[in-house]
Amino acid sequence: MNDPNGMVYYKGLYHLFYQHYPEGNTWGPMSWGHAVSKDMVHWEDRPIALAPDQHGLIFSGSAVVDWNNTSGLGTKTNPPLVAIYTYDNGELKKAGLPGQSQGIAFSVDDGKTWNKYEGNPVLPPPASKPDFRDPKVIWHDASKSWVMALAVGDQTEFYTSPDLKTWTYASAFGRGIGAHGGVWECPDLVPFKVKGTGETKWVLIQSLNPGGANSGAGTQYFVGDFDGREFKMDQKFTAQLQAQGPQWLDWGRDNYAAVTWSDISKTDGRVLSIGWMNNWDYAEKIPPTAWRGANTLPRELTLHDTGNGYSLRSNPVAEVSKLHGKTHVTQPQRVTESLSANIPADQVMRSAITLEFAKVDGAIAYLEFSNDQGETYQVGLDGKSQKYFSDRRKSGRIDFSEKFASAVHTAPRTSTADTVKMRVYTDSASVELFADDGATVMTDTVFPLHPYTKVKFVVNGQPVSVSKLEAIDIKSIW
Ligand code: FRU
Repeated sequence: MNDPNGMVYYKGLYHLFYQHYPEGNTWGPMSWGHAVSKDMVHWEDRPIALAPDQHGLIFSGSAVVDWNNTSGLGTKTNPPLVAIYTYDNGELKKAGLPGQSQGIAFSVDDGKTWNKYEGNPVLPPPASKPDFRDPKVIWHDASKSWVMALAVGDQTEFYTSPDLKTWTYASAFGRGIGAHGGVWECPDLVPFKVKGTGETKWVLIQSLNPGGANSGAGTQYFVGDFDGREFKMDQKFTAQLQAQGPQWLDWGRDNYAAVTWSDISKTDGRVLSIGWMNNWDYAEKIPPTAWRGANTLPRELTLHDTGNGYSLRSNPVAEVSKLHGKTHVTQPQRVTESLSANIPADQVMRSAITLEFAKVDGAIAYLEFSNDQGETYQVGLDGKSQKYFSDRRKSGRIDFSEKFASAVHTAPRTSTADTVKMRVYTDSASVELFADDGATVMTDTVFPLHPYTKVKFVVNGQPVSVSKLEAIDIKSIW
């Protein structure tokens, strides 16, 4: 799989579609695979929802519940689910024509089966726009209109529609703003209630490849206002971009094309996201052969006013705690060299580790995962530079791509709290760091030849006081 697509919540089920080539384990003619879940944690496979047709392959896109049946594709009492996606047409491209257009499909049986709309494509490509893809659609209540965010070259374009079938260009955003190391892909425009205030701000989540935080594919975001037609960056956020550079949803290498769920109920009110845990730099070469590509943990996103700007935080959704088993506590203490974490060997790569320690500017402090074969992975904080780091250079199999482990990945610590908080979720081939309550996030894959069996907290430079070191067993979802 690659990108998650069409995430929509309807009648108690979270739908998750994804870029999928059913005949192989590298990228190929794309379909939308489909899975459903009651809790975003336990998933059930469904048959392929959308397969290529005469208009092209099925690239990324979104899905919505058309509650008022504006499309006429269902009824008011049985509103249709409508998927909006990109057709990628190789024949047109070969002929030197722009080959990407937008199509729609609908379901009137709660997302079980899907019918392509006979009037496809609903948004053909303008002659000058070969990269014209990944529609993310929302209902904009104030203007009583559908709004599509679309990745076009290295900008985001917005289109509006009364019925999901006819689309009108509204505006573009992004020229010269933020990171532009590659083509922009998979935009998402999301309204947020700024945490602790009554204020609403709009966040434009925008993936790009390459040009990410630590090279390769990555996802940046912009904060501003949206009037139904145009996205305008907030002044404070503009200053923040100028001072700090691009703002990243995740600073690791392995969270791409993350977008949010549509139609989460008002009573729930959360902004829920999931990303593809891989990177185009090496996606098709990673060691697993039975499958390739996975999703990140589902995450709740929140928006915070930092005083001189805004920042997005990501944390695992509360439902993840359903997988929590036993907790293993390591006694808090002052550490001068290292401290072994109390954690059963066979749980090391299925664990949620919480580490809290007093900030020491002169110390490098990190968790080291290892096995008896000498493979190690480190994740922690360099107090001198105030940067989190993730080092997979000796993590196991790294030789499948020069780009996989060529450098240590870093991320600024933005929190100024005296206690450093790290929450680390491991799975067989991944480590997800949520630092300082989600203010800094790093997701990296690792491919040890043998599972890591030990974890220790290591300090370098100065002693560090640990106030919490706990490991929770994570149960299998299957
Ligand atoms: C992002 C992406 C999208 C495209 C899809 C094709 O990873 O390149 O822009 O729709 O993957 O699989």
